Amino acid sequence: MHKTLLEAIGNTPLVRIPFDVPAQIYAKLEYANPGGSVKDRSAIYMIEDAEKTGQLKSGGTIIDASSGNQGIAVAMIGAAKGYRVIIVVSEKISQEKLETLRAYNAQVVICSPTDRIDDPEGYHTVALRLQKETPNSFMPNQYFNPLNAQAHYTLLGPEVWEQTEGTVTHFFAGAGTGGTVTGVGRYLKERNPNVKIFAVDSVNSYRATNGCPKPYCVEGMGIDFDSPVLDCAVLDEILTVSDDDAIAMLKVVAAKGFLVGPSSGAVAHAAYQYAKEHLSERDRVVLIFGDSGRAYLSKGFYAQGEVENMPRKKSSYSQVHP
Ligand SMILES: Cc1ncc(COP(=O)(O)O)c(C=O)c1O
Repeated sequence: MHKTLLEAIGNTPLVRIPFDVPAQIYAKLEYANPGGSVKDRSAIYMIEDAEKTGQLKSGGTIIDASSGNQGIAVAMIGAAKGYRVIIVVSEKISQEKLETLRAYNAQVVICSPTDRIDDPEGYHTVALRLQKETPNSFMPNQYFNPLNAQAHYTLLGPEVWEQTEGTVTHFFAGAGTGGTVTGVGRYLKERNPNVKIFAVDSVNSYRATNGCPKPYCVEGMGIDFDSPVLDCAVLDEILTVSDDDAIAMLKVVAAKGFLVGPSSGAVAHAAYQYAKEHLSERDRVVLIFGDSGRAYLSKGFYAQGEVENMPRKKSSYSQVHP
């Protein structure tokens, strides 16, 4: 029983995915959070820190830039706590996420998609500008706020450790800001330095293409700038996944009952391929399902007409050492 909606953030289920590999692969169902994604954790942590430190006061406005889920988390928390919320998004956002922001009564500003975080017309710069212009406002700034990773170190890492009773051997998470994989990875390595930590990136991201990014459809995930939140020292490997492989895996896991978003498809693809090639029955994998497929149904990714047991294409999975 929770006295407030926000106390219900976290303690999400950890569920085995029935994959045909010897290793056990478990997914942390972050879509079970009240705002529907892993970002509830980082948003509540940054907002409550701002309240404690006086950066956010009663009657204030919270402004943030988001590819969707951070914005939804901020809008949900703002609604529950009674703050005005302005979210600046890129046109890449799904219609469902846009309508979710509006349902939480957030004001939405839409910018053209950009490859560069410092683009003067991009969503991050516009959010910074709005925050400077708006009195009594606070910007969590997930892209540059170290509390982003700290949130996952404090909230998500211990859950993964405790739910597996310390038996986790491999951890996989999609990297956008890198907060999730850095925070959880740091916590798990402190508990057991032998746990292997994998960040999952898009093959088309700024980092994966050495600064020449191409468009990709997976939302939320993809290392598109030199993120100060992402600590490569915590990572064992960065794995890259194509849109095609992420979407093909979406159908596979949906057919098993896990209706997840494209970044989760990418993470599941990377973990499955890695487990098939490298892991044995002694290994216990945990991966993050960051959000639900319900936020992407209008994108037409899920049509099951051609589903088979596993993706048909030869995998474009590749490994890059950080
Ligand atoms: C669904 C989903 N997965 C993964 C990520 C990446 O998380 P992080 O920014 O902590 O690296 C995000 C970020 O918004 C997301 O929305």
